[in-house]
Amino acid sequence: MEHATVTFTADPTATQHKWWQHGIIYQIYPRSFQDSNGDGVGDLKGIITRLDYLQWLGIDCVWLSPIFASPMADFGYDISDYRGIHALFGNMEDFDELLREVHRRDMKLLLDLVPNHTSDQHPWFLESRSSKNNPKRDWYIWHDGKEDGSVPNNWLSVFGGPAWEWDPVTRQYYYHAFLKEQPDLNWRNPEVQQAMLDVMRFWLEKGVDGFRVDVMWHMIKDSQLRDNPPVPNTPANTASPLYDEYMPVYSTDQPEVHGIVRMMRELTDAFGDRVLIGEIYLPVSRLVAYYGQNNTGAHLPFNFQLLTLPWNAQEIAAAIDAYEGALPLGSWPNWVLSNHDKPRITSRVGLSQARIAAMLLLTLRGTPTIYYGDEIGMTDVPIPVDEIVDPQGLNMPDLNISRDPSRTPMQWGPEINAGFSTRKPWLRLPYNAARVNVEKQKNDTHSMLSFYRRLIDIRRNSAALSVGSYSPVYSDSQLISYLRQEHDETFLIILNLSHRPAYFRPQKTHYQGVIRLSTEEERIGQRVAQVITLAGDEGIVVELI
Ligand code: GLC
Repeated sequence: MEHATVTFTADPTATQHKWWQHGIIYQIYPRSFQDSNGDGVGDLKGIITRLDYLQWLGIDCVWLSPIFASPMADFGYDISDYRGIHALFGNMEDFDELLREVHRRDMKLLLDLVPNHTSDQHPWFLESRSSKNNPKRDWYIWHDGKEDGSVPNNWLSVFGGPAWEWDPVTRQYYYHAFLKEQPDLNWRNPEVQQAMLDVMRFWLEKGVDGFRVDVMWHMIKDSQLRDNPPVPNTPANTASPLYDEYMPVYSTDQPEVHGIVRMMRELTDAFGDRVLIGEIYLPVSRLVAYYGQNNTGAHLPFNFQLLTLPWNAQEIAAAIDAYEGALPLGSWPNWVLSNHDKPRITSRVGLSQARIAAMLLLTLRGTPTIYYGDEIGMTDVPIPVDEIVDPQGLNMPDLNISRDPSRTPMQWGPEINAGFSTRKPWLRLPYNAARVNVEKQKNDTHSMLSFYRRLIDIRRNSAALSVGSYSPVYSDSQLISYLRQEHDETFLIILNLSHRPAYFRPQKTHYQGVIRLSTEEERIGQRVAQVITLAGDEGIVVELI
């Protein structure tokens, strides 16, 4: 169906775009990017040696998953010192060098801030659990059990089981939305707020360009700790209820969270041109609240729709438009295809559609985030059961939801361990790593990597594609198409989300132009007009003339 003419555009009063609006973000999972010291785990020095690659690819900004001191119960999302670098990754000198080297290349560096919870080994928690009278007792969420001794309410841990852990010493429960090794901080306590803002200040003063804030929507919980309601029509699994069987309406996304986000934003803004990104898994109508009133919240509440929706042209077209329509005035969109918590895009939609997904990511209006390895079409690596290390996988073995497969080492070259490490990597590589890697793909113009590079290049060099307006044109059960426009430059993007040939057949407008980019490279430069025929799995970027 052809859409009515509607155009989504940036705030017309905003004259210049910020780096985090026109730039491209690249997520590095540090354990898996490059090992420099042969311990099988990636590190900061390793990342430094690969910055030239990222610059060559055309990346503007690197976000690192946590690199801080941690017992690694959740691979660094359980932090025991927010100002210390984990020895596995290096030390503060390495970090300073990394920051310098990133900036020297005119790129930006974002850190992962994990404010919702600490490690149970963090000195704050050790104090808090030491006695009921400890000054830090109220830094975490402690509560008596019910009269019969059972947990205070029905809240569940995302990683399985109840979210309350009994502490035999002080005879109370503490709340943990994730592992019991990750107790949640009590963000209603002003001392906690100040302590975490101090952590942010420490890194901002060092010169980092901003943060991706872990589980932002979890930070405040209902003050009355009311029970979450069960999801209607879900047969309750009383033996071991799963997180998704209850609606987390009291344990997440509380109105007071926006005050906290605003504080974080104010601090970030005090340091000039930095960015605050929020990790938030919520429906769009609730997600957009995280931009805050008059955009005083997160600059970019991560938009995970491409990660969570079924790969269906009509659904995705509708979701794009619904998102565009829901954005508050003056806010900036963003899109994410994969991350370290979800299956890789190639494993969700297949290799040929992964190119369509890349084209979508890099031609939609809004900041794109690329997950390391997606640019070479890395797929989820099957990890034998006895090699699973992810707690989510280990805790719920029957569900096959370990995140290890999408966290495997970057495949750099045909050499041993794909050039990632000289020793056995912490997670195995796929059997085809000697074939699927950066080295092999760099000089092959048909490779996924070359395709990504062309896409990034065309986006970077076009105002229409990087910051221009978006208007939907036409979509059906196979195709999604839209226009991107800025000044006198207009691109028509047509994506075939099916494997079968398809016809782009707009009824109202006559389109003509030249194909500037296609998944079928041979088609670049071809003139097209009106009814345009696409191959299965084909996407084209047409410059209208
Ligand atoms: C976020 C992280 C995930 C982690 C969880 C708990 O969702 O992305 O990796 O396990 O928070 O910190």
